[in-house]
Parts: sequence; C-alpha cells; structure tokens
Amino acid sequence: MQTTIGIVLAAGQGTRMKSGVPKVMHLICGLPIVHHGVQAALDAGCGEVVVVVGEGRRMVEEYLERAFKGRPVRTAVQEQQRGTGDAARAGLATIGKEALQVLVMNGDVPLVGGEDLRAVTKPLAEASSPAALSLATCVVQDPTGYGRVLRKGGQVVEIREHRDLRSQQERDVREINAGIYVANIALLREALASLAPDNAQGELYLTDIVAFSSNAGEHIATVTLPEDALAGVNDREQLVQVERTMHARIARKWRLQGATVRDGARVDAGVVLEPDCEVESGAVLRGATRVASGATVGVGCVLTDVAVGAGASVKPYTVGTASSIGASAQVGPFAHLRPGTDIGEEAHLGNFVEAKKTKMGRGAKANHLAYLGDGVIGDGANIGAGTIFCNYDGVSKHTTTIGAKAFIGSDSQIVAPVTVGANSYVATGTTVTRDVPPGALAISRVKQENKEGYAPKLAARMRAAKDAKGK
Ligand code: UD1
Ligand code: CA
Repeated sequence: MQTTIGIVLAAGQGTRMKSGVPKVMHLICGLPIVHHGVQAALDAGCGEVVVVVGEGRRMVEEYLERAFKGRPVRTAVQEQQRGTGDAARAGLATIGKEALQVLVMNGDVPLVGGEDLRAVTKPLAEASSPAALSLATCVVQDPTGYGRVLRKGGQVVEIREHRDLRSQQERDVREINAGIYVANIALLREALASLAPDNAQGELYLTDIVAFSSNAGEHIATVTLPEDALAGVNDREQLVQVERTMHARIARKWRLQGATVRDGARVDAGVVLEPDCEVESGAVLRGATRVASGATVGVGCVLTDVAVGAGASVKPYTVGTASSIGASAQVGPFAHLRPGTDIGEEAHLGNFVEAKKTKMGRGAKANHLAYLGDGVIGDGANIGAGTIFCNYDGVSKHTTTIGAKAFIGSDSQIVAPVTVGANSYVATGTTVTRDVPPGALAISRVKQENKEGYAPKLAARMRAAKDAKGK
C-alpha cells in the first residue's frame, strides 16, 4: 500500500454506554474496543496510526502507550466532542506531507479486520480511474440508527444520518455507511474544512465529506463489506453481541489449527492454544494465557496470564492468575493459583489448595486443603492435607523453604521464615518454628493419654448436667 496513515476516531463520549469509563476502553474479548481498531489499521498496512482521543483521554493514552509500545501508534487530542468530522480534523491536523492518503475509521467497530480495511483502500490505487474517496458500505436488514448511502443514477451523492432523513423513501434505504473511509489527503483536507454543523445534532459530521466530494465531481467508490465485520458498539447490548461474534471467530480459528475448544469455552484475543490441547466448556482463558500441546483445561477454569505446559491437566474449577503450570503437572479441581506461582513438571496441586508466589519443584505434591504462600518447595516433596505456610506475621511476608523429598505431615503449620531440610520428616500436627536439618524428624505435639473405661462415665456426667439445666 502507498503511504497510508490511519486515523482512528476514539474521542466520543459513548453516552449510550451509560458508563464512567470511556466507551473505547470497554473490553471485548479481553482487549479495549479501541485496541481492535488500531490493530486492524496496522494489519492493513498503515504506516502510522493516529488515535483521536478526548473523553477520558488519559486512560486511552496510557493504554495505547503500553499496548502498542514500539509500534507507530500515537494520539491526537480533540478538545471538545463536536462530532466525527471535527475529530477527523483533529487527527488530520497532526499529519504532515508524508501521507498520500488517509484511512479514517470509527474506533467503535471492533470486528473489522486488516483485510477488510485493505479492500477499502484498493479503489484509490486502481490504474484506470482511481477513486479520490472510497467508503465501506453494507446492505443490512435493519438500517435503524446508521447513516444511509444516498445514490443518484447509481452514483453515491451523500450520506445522510438516520436522524436527518427526510422521507420514508430515504428511511427505506438499507445500504448503510460503515464509518470507514479512505481518501486522498488533499481532498480530505478540503472536505473537512468545508464542514458545517447544519444537522439534527448540531455536530460536524465526517459523513458530509461525501456530498462535498460528489459536488466537486470527484470519483467516489464504495466497497461492500460483510455485515458481521461492521457492527458498531454503541451500547452494552451491542458490546455483548459483538463479543459473542468475536469469541466464535477466535474459537473457530484455534479449532482449525488443531485445538479442541468445546462449545461454551471463552478464549480471549491474546490467548495462544497449541495443537492438540483441549479446553472444556465453561473455561475462561484470558490475557496472555498459553496452553501447550496435549494439555487439558477443565470445565469452569478461569485462567488469566497462565502458561499451561505440555500434557498438563488443569481440572475443573481451577482459578489461576499470572502463574505457570509445568509439563504433565496436575492441578485442581478447585485449586487456586495466585500470582507468581510456578508449578513444576509432574507436580500435583490438588483440591482446595491455594498457592501464592510459590515455586513447586518437579514431582512435588500438595494434594488436599493447604495454603502455600511464599514457598519454595523442592523436587518430590510431599505436603500433607491441611498444611499451612504461615507466611505473614501481620507486618511482613516471609519465605518457607522445603527441601527435596521432605515429607510434611498433615495439619502442620510451617511458621516462616523457616527451612525444612531435604529428606526430613515433619510429623502430623507439628508447628515448625525452627529450621529442620536435612534428614531429621521434627515433632511438636502434646503426648496422648488414654483413660481406660472412662467413656461411659463421661457420657453419664454430661447427660446429668444437661438434665439439670432442663429443669
Ligand atoms: C457514525 C456515522 C454513521 C455510520 C456509523 C457507523 C457520522 C456522523 N455518522 O454514526 O453514518 O453509519 O457511524 O457505525 O459519522 N467520535 C469522536 N469525536 C466526536 C464524536 C465521535 O472521536 O466528537 C468517535 C467516537 O468515539 C466513535 C466514532 O467517532 O468511535 C463514531 O461516533 P458515533 O457517535 O458512535 O457515531 P454513530 O452515531 O455510530
Ligand atoms: Ca457508533
């Protein structure tokens, strides 16, 4: 593509969202609405993308800086939200002579892809009669709310907004404006300069560049894009509809690449699935989660930024965040991996075990009911049911170190900072407060006493006490 600069309009209030968060920052498949548009413009080959920000601009600017670091994405500010035409002006004002043509697109159409946008630029490069303006349109069943494409003798002469339609005949037009335009930069400058707020909303409409171009005798082309690429997000109902479509697309993409994504699983846009992994119904995979080949993520798991190793089994209802699960490890059901947890290869972390910032060595096991906070657990160690790493003294967090092949008996408390040596044995019910040397047995327990024949006497005494109370 010749030097095309993209302008993404993202300054609007998004009143219909009824939200304190700017519309373009609402998430679709884990990424802000604006992210999808910017990515599409980059994918289309734009040399640079200018995002016009206004409402909640700090938040949008900060996000873009972080998400598109090192890529040709910058922002321009529209001080007052005076309409899409005004927003396009704000973007164009920051573009120098380097651009030959400009792609302007609404920032609220997240399903449009790079290929779709590229198709809209094509008419400007046509050898015989290049267009000066190209716009994406679509014939839809229900055009309510959209700007209509008005033609005379087949030629586009104007786009008229829904609110400004003048007759039933105009209302019946089902060809709508998608909000994606590619224009010769000189024409765009002139057309935007000519805009006036003479419409129902008293705004500067970007769409008026079409009538301007038509009156100037310029060649206007239209490119038909599929309806499901053009859905705009104006309210939360549309947000969810668009998200449903995008989730279906993502699932289809991974399925065709050899991953089994069961119906009802939700895989967000930043997730990577390797061939031959399996994601069960109701699992939600978010952020930069990655599932390696042969691994299974069970029903109802919620994994955010989790790396699941090859052949690992993450059983139902496991919740994990910013953690990694080694190859062939087994986690869950009902396990909780909090940030910084690193489960080694072939390790087991079973039901109702919570781990935080804990590293579990290869083949280590904690199969039932435990809290493992700030731990370093050696290879092959066994952590019994009910064990608690007491990592917090009310002021600071401390580390518990368990050596390789150590055995921690059930219901033990390990009071950090402390080290339990390799191959040592901590007896059931022990409270470990001092380091345990390698190979030692640690036991702290009150001695058991048995009183022969005492049970019936005890029962009689308790019954008598109860009867006395009853009277
Ligand atoms: C717009 C089009 C309409 C088209 C529809 C397609 C106009 C006048 N109308 O209507 O013809 O059918 O998109 O989805 O362009 N924005 C700004 N600054 C502003 C106003 C809006 O940056 O002052 C941004 C918004 O953040 C949004 C985009 O422009 O991303 C579109 O604005 P919106 O108000 O949603 O336009 P529509 O009413 O959908
Ligand atoms: Ca819109």
